[in-house]
Amino acid sequence: MSSSGPSGHPYRVGIIVSSDRGYRKEAEDLSGPLIREIAEAAGFQVLSYTLLPDEQPLLETELKRLCDGNMVDLILSSGGTGFSPRDRMPEATAAVAERLVPGIPEAMRAQSLGITKRAMLSRSLAAIRGATLIINLPGSPKAVRENLEFIIGELAHGLDMLTGR
Ligand code: MTE
Repeated sequence: MSSSGPSGHPYRVGIIVSSDRGYRKEAEDLSGPLIREIAEAAGFQVLSYTLLPDEQPLLETELKRLCDGNMVDLILSSGGTGFSPRDRMPEATAAVAERLVPGIPEAMRAQSLGITKRAMLSRSLAAIRGATLIINLPGSPKAVRENLEFIIGELAHGLDMLTGR
């Protein structure tokens, strides 16, 4: 499978992991590498991978760096979508969003509810800033796989429209 536009270049992906424990090296980040694996298997090119603490200003800065520098076409974030006091990835995404894309998190939650009713606890957002699509994924590798494998096949069509390729 290839996720490239008509020009033939693969779409570029940036990964952002929001995890205090991962950032402090108290836990190995397994979700970032798993996102890379799934994205590359689907034909995307992963150009950037950043592990950050659950600090909204840092998350916003990284989102803006990747979008505004035309660094990537797609940002896949992991973590920080639950109810813990420091979970702020949806807030960071909303703060930088120009347009919301509700259908993607709706689809992820609809699919995931068939696996675990706790999917209702994910506050994930998807949004567009400039020509970049941002999608929040939950933090656990299990949830990353279940969500990302479900949506990834439809993303190239959205990116074709977004980037005008
Ligand atoms: N979605 C799927 N497919 N599988 C899961 O195991 N876990 C849920 C939910 N979505 C889960 C899922 C749980 S328990 C939570 S708290 C939320 O995602 C948010 O996860 P996060 O806090 O790691 O971001």
